[in-house]
Amino acid sequence: MKLTIIGTGYVGLVTGTCFAEVGHHVCCVDNDDAKVKMLQSGRIPIYEPGLEELVQKNAAAGRLSFSNNTAEGVAKSDVVFIAVPTPPQPDGSVDMSFIERVARDIAAAMTDYKIIVDKSTVPVQTGDKVAETIKRYCKARVDFDVVSNPEFLREGFAVEDLMKPDRIVVGVRTQRPVPALKEVYAPFNAPIIVTDINSAELIKHASNSFLALKISYINAISVICEATGANVQEVANGMGMDERIGRRFLNASLGFGGSCFPKDLSAFIKIAEQLRYDFGLLKEVQKINAAQMDRFVKKIADTLWVLKGKKIGVLGLAFKQNTDDIRTSPALELCHRLQKEGAILRVHDPKAMEKAKADLHNVTYVDDMNEVAEGCDALVIATEWEEFKKLDLERARKSLSHPIMFDGRNLFDPQEMERLGFIYKSIGR
Ligand code: UGA
Repeated sequence: MKLTIIGTGYVGLVTGTCFAEVGHHVCCVDNDDAKVKMLQSGRIPIYEPGLEELVQKNAAAGRLSFSNNTAEGVAKSDVVFIAVPTPPQPDGSVDMSFIERVARDIAAAMTDYKIIVDKSTVPVQTGDKVAETIKRYCKARVDFDVVSNPEFLREGFAVEDLMKPDRIVVGVRTQRPVPALKEVYAPFNAPIIVTDINSAELIKHASNSFLALKISYINAISVICEATGANVQEVANGMGMDERIGRRFLNASLGFGGSCFPKDLSAFIKIAEQLRYDFGLLKEVQKINAAQMDRFVKKIADTLWVLKGKKIGVLGLAFKQNTDDIRTSPALELCHRLQKEGAILRVHDPKAMEKAKADLHNVTYVDDMNEVAEGCDALVIATEWEEFKKLDLERARKSLSHPIMFDGRNLFDPQEMERLGFIYKSIGR
């Protein structure tokens, strides 16, 4: 099929590339000229495993192109996907101006029937507003359908999630666009759920909020574990074997972050408020997440006593593994908190150091993870990178003035760390 994606952020770029990979002809549009040029030259502006190779392969095969011209994209395709940002506003609500702008641009360029598919994460009832806007601004007065098709990819695993989805959600106002959407997704061999637009939009916010709730739940359990000498990982394993609960997203941590969960929680709480429902449950999820960071900072401060002038090594800056994304990163927040207390930091991240440099100043960026502990009073694990599990622990122990490690991601085995001579403090164990 001929498809156009407006917006080449995480969702737009991965979606467009994977659509091309399964054989569709895809035009990706972005209004950032520099980004379009970069993509045209086969490079990508983010680190995402496997993505750059797929972009190059599909561009070379003539199935994937990039443009800065929305009208050109609309003219080329029958199905136009909107994948532009919906950033948070200071009060927690969502800034819808990018979606509105794109809806107007698409409307202005339409000369025949189009299916306009919203992939951006949006508040419930946005589909109706997009449809109204297109109707208002389409001078050609042609037929169209608006569809909600939320995306469930995780950064760092985006290609895998997109190529092997658990489900495809298609929210529609009429049945007319359904066959085309089924054709778009047929190569992915995933169950397709067709709902009304409001339900599709809600599935996205409800899913992300539920996953965040799962993390806060296990983080709350981690507090009880610490108070009783239980082990949160064993509790999570035991809970997770119940298929109704499931083990995934039950990893206790110093808190969740990223560009989705914090923003989507605030937005969902705000939407509920506008609908006159006080979503206290989700407010508690936020509270537990903030408290988890406070508890971790306190754990470090209680152990090291005075933080002023202490040298601390921090492993991890990205908000999670396999990405260079530092947006709302708990690891970066931790660095700022430690700096505020007067600590001197040596930091490392396998992929996020370049991006972190714009936000985190007056620290030493260390290229080799095994050199971070050099001369430090303690070492902290802040991001769950797999490769941190391969840290040279013997070298770290010798490099530290005192062998103290704070593990905000439970990467190591407490008994093994003790055997190696570490004072090892993790989460809920
Ligand atoms: C999340 C959802 O998982 C995706 O399904 C969704 O499509 C995406 O948001 C989105 O709305 O675009 P993402 O933000 O990329 O994906 O990352 P996650 O893997 O969900 O991790 C979010 C945060 O939770 C990270 O800081 C991670 O370290 C933390 N986390 C995750 C935990 O602390 N414990 C866990 O068990 C899992």
